[in-house]
Amino acid sequence: MEWYPLKNAVNVSHMLLEPYVPMARVLVDMTCGNGHDTAFLAERMARDASLYAFDIQDSAIAATRQRLRDKQLLSDRVHLLQGSHDQLLEQVPDIVDLIVFNLGYLPSGDHALHTTGEITVKAIKIGLHKIAKNGIIMLAAYPGTDAGAAEANAVRTYLQTVPQKDYDVSMWQPLNQIHCPPQLYIVQKRG
Ligand SMILES: C[S@@+](CC[C@H](N)C(=O)[O-])C[C@H]1O[C@@H](n2cnc3c(N)ncnc32)[C@H](O)[C@@H]1O
Repeated sequence: MEWYPLKNAVNVSHMLLEPYVPMARVLVDMTCGNGHDTAFLAERMARDASLYAFDIQDSAIAATRQRLRDKQLLSDRVHLLQGSHDQLLEQVPDIVDLIVFNLGYLPSGDHALHTTGEITVKAIKIGLHKIAKNGIIMLAAYPGTDAGAAEANAVRTYLQTVPQKDYDVSMWQPLNQIHCPPQLYIVQKRG
């Protein structure tokens, strides 16, 4: 375990995921981008686990592959797939233990290639069907832009309707930041 600064949604998501990653058999990074989250998962997952990482952009898949190569984390149990996560998640053959979304756009890329509320909610619905008992879906959302605010609103509105008898749903957000900081949504399927 390491010290996690409790100041942003991604740090908090990693802190919450840390104890679960080594127990997971199947993990999915829905938006691999520059590969930071994929590397976080690949470094901690069990030797016999499988990790899927998706992105719609070729350049993101290439950046993630390079990051994993640099950290000696590439293996035949890490699957990097280009495409939209709603379609690719359907094709993952198994029940999934951990699903991570880091929404928004690639900071170093085309900011117009933003995740969208419609596709994200569609992918969450697929994730809710595929997630194992006690499994977790984690979403970092960025309401600081118009597109990000609309998406965060769509995610929040949908997650408020998820049945309490089947899933525990919560969120985390900073309260004293002057701008509109990222938020974290957390879903766990009840055991
Ligand atoms: C904030 S970045 C992800 C950061 C990344 N997790 C990391 O650790 O570097 C958001 C990513 O979502 C990707 N994206 C947008 N729409 C998508 C979709 N429908 N399916 C998969 N990826 C998508 C973008 O291309 C972008 O790379």
